[in-house]
Amino acid sequence: MRALLLENLHPLASSLLTEAGIEVESRSGALSEDELITVLERFDLLGIRSKTEVTGRVLAAHPDLVAVGAFCIGTNQIDLDAATERGIAVFNAPYSNTRSVVELAIANIIAMARRLTVRDKALHAGVWDKSSDGSHEIRGRTLGIVGYGNIGSQLSVVAEMLGMQVYFYDTEEKLALGNARRCSSLEELLDTVETVTLHVDGRAGNAGIFDATRIARMRPRSLFLNLSRGFVVDYDALRDALVSGHVAGAAVDVFPVEPVRRGDRFDSPLRGLPNVILTPHVGGSTEEAQEDIGRFVATKLRNYVQTGSTALSVNLPTLTPGHSSHAQRVAHIHHNTPGVLAKVNQVFAEHDVNIGGQVLATRGQTGYVVTDTGSDLSPAVVRALRGVPETIRVRVID
Ligand SMILES: NC(=O)c1ccc[n+]([C@@H]2O[C@H](COP(=O)([O-])OP(=O)(O)OC[C@H]3O[C@@H](n4cnc5c(N)ncnc54)[C@H](O)[C@@H]3O)[C@@H](O)[C@H]2O)c1
Repeated sequence: MRALLLENLHPLASSLLTEAGIEVESRSGALSEDELITVLERFDLLGIRSKTEVTGRVLAAHPDLVAVGAFCIGTNQIDLDAATERGIAVFNAPYSNTRSVVELAIANIIAMARRLTVRDKALHAGVWDKSSDGSHEIRGRTLGIVGYGNIGSQLSVVAEMLGMQVYFYDTEEKLALGNARRCSSLEELLDTVETVTLHVDGRAGNAGIFDATRIARMRPRSLFLNLSRGFVVDYDALRDALVSGHVAGAAVDVFPVEPVRRGDRFDSPLRGLPNVILTPHVGGSTEEAQEDIGRFVATKLRNYVQTGSTALSVNLPTLTPGHSSHAQRVAHIHHNTPGVLAKVNQVFAEHDVNIGGQVLATRGQTGYVVTDTGSDLSPAVVRALRGVPETIRVRVID
């Protein structure tokens, strides 16, 4: 197996794959579609971050690619349908930066409650403004979390450890952790809490949900955070509320339009306001998160290569077979229609291959069966498996 790792991935990714006997070539930048098509010829695995587009054209040119590792959170840069149609597994790291976002949210809450940016600016300007006016402990204060998913629920635990009273609102039924209390509507949450923090996902319906009406509904002198998605909030309305004093402080990490490159100019109605912390979408950007992403995705690729495990794959059915003690293992990805398993097993029976163990999972239109066999598989058996009409891919795992 050979892996091509692009976009300067954490060195842990390369070392984990190399230790597993996979030959690795690393490159620092992203590749264009045409470059990728040319270079991929020699590789079985591809590792990317967000800048390399793995389009349907790339995958059509390399249908034998075994797996793609997205060493990041999102997978929008990969044509997932095209990958699934060809039985190419895709893995990502959905949870690796959760803790980093939570820590930034906590830092922001404390910084706003103590008006740290205001104090900092004054002192840098040579003004000794020592006063307790408008400065608060966060212990005992109420925090309202909108969106109780990976980040929202972990923030709930950490905020509670710091003595905050946590309330949350989620459109789905969610288990309340610790002493957190569920609100039955966003309005109930806004009426209740002193600090509102958004951790909703990027579904289209969330566009502009935090508008002038919802901002006005917040309790007077509340604090506000958005570390989720830029398009969720009307920032002009937030600016008005900050200027009028209705909102006492805001911390914003995500914007509807964000500059593409480091060093590019940034503009926002929120620039220049006191007690407003603006950060350039760095909620999840820590060295620890990068290391975790490197370890997480490389481990998923390695396990898929060595055992056929599709645990946490973005696009294939989930199977987590351990290491096999049988002669050989064969992974069969197929179109999920009735009778495929019978046809696969018919092939084994006709070739006198004993089945030592077998697991099947399906996901939508795709089925995945991993079979441990009692004897080595001859090329004829593999050919016959490929001949099953519903077959997408057959991979023999030693
Ligand atoms: N700032 C950063 O650097 C950074 C880093 C990582 C993630 N994020 C963003 O943070 C957000 C949360 O990430 P996550 O991993 O916790 O996602 P998640 O999918 O685990 O959780 C999102 C939660 O929001 C809920 N939800 C969706 N719409 C809602 C609404 N209108 N009202 C109430 N609840 C709603 C969902 O039911 C879900 O429980 C995402 O938008 C993600 O893109 C930002």
